[in-house]
Amino acid sequence: MTIRDLIKQGYEFLEGAENAVLNCEVVLANVLGVDKEYLISHSDQEIGGDSEFSEDLADLYMAYLKKVKAGEPVAYILKEKEFYGLSFFVDNRVLVPRPETEQLVETVLSFLEEKYGVKRSREFESDAEKFRILDVGTGSGNIAISLATNFQNLEAVALDVSDDAIEVARVNVNQHGVEDRVELYQSDLLDVIEDGEKFHVIVANLPYIGTKTNSDVDENVEKHEPASALFAGEDGLDLYLKMFTQIQEKNVGYDLIVGEFGSMQREDMEALLTDFFGQNWRIEKDLAGLDRMFVVECES
Ligand SMILES: C[S@@+](CC[C@H](N)C(=O)[O-])C[C@H]1O[C@@H](n2cnc3c(N)ncnc32)[C@H](O)[C@@H]1O
Repeated sequence: MTIRDLIKQGYEFLEGAENAVLNCEVVLANVLGVDKEYLISHSDQEIGGDSEFSEDLADLYMAYLKKVKAGEPVAYILKEKEFYGLSFFVDNRVLVPRPETEQLVETVLSFLEEKYGVKRSREFESDAEKFRILDVGTGSGNIAISLATNFQNLEAVALDVSDDAIEVARVNVNQHGVEDRVELYQSDLLDVIEDGEKFHVIVANLPYIGTKTNSDVDENVEKHEPASALFAGEDGLDLYLKMFTQIQEKNVGYDLIVGEFGSMQREDMEALLTDFFGQNWRIEKDLAGLDRMFVVECES
């Protein structure tokens, strides 16, 4: 049996489900310990027999595909998800990072470059300006770690109400070697932040699914991913309302606040932003053209 045969077998097993080929490739590459490009360039390579890849790996591949077919997210099965070009450890204690959230990271990096005239860099420069970021609802730590990895002169404080999530984020912080620049705290929103603390950017991807307004959550998402990472009150904006209130009451300093929300919430989000920030905000769409991100710029 060759790599090509296994992909075909997997595809047929998944009965042409959405992303079936991609899922087969991601799972097989992980099981064989190679990248996806290797599967293409070595599609005639034998598995089993004298091959460097034992038959057990083909069995493991099919065992994983059974879980995929049962609806378990591939990322939880493989305990890995790629985000902003980096690999993150994930399991069912955290939300699987979504591609649309990469836009938050890009927006923060571009803002720092444009506003302060600095270039993103993976090399530390001792005399360069330092930046402070607050990541609220960090989950696996994907946002804070992606920022810290791409901007050596950046320090992040990353918060999550869930101790479990903080444990997962710590694995990733260590894995990416940013433990000296990403501090993790268990905190209900900004509870651990001191009055008057200052950050260059506050970034948040808080839960935003409304228990009343969004009844069309994917069945597998609801079944497998933590409810505390998904839902936020009836209209889904409870946590953003509380976060904005805390930022104001604690007089937390910022140049930019960036957050993700659901495309169906634009009107409610606009009203909330206007209440707190007057006209100093804008909404941006994701690559699919859906309203996805709010951006608040400090007036001064
Ligand atoms: C939608 S997930 C986002 C995770 C990650 N930042 C990402 O972009 O993939 C929301 C995260 O917010 C956390 N969260 C929920 N309520 C919170 C609260 N009151 N204070 C802080 N974090 C909270 C959840 O535990 C979860 O990890």
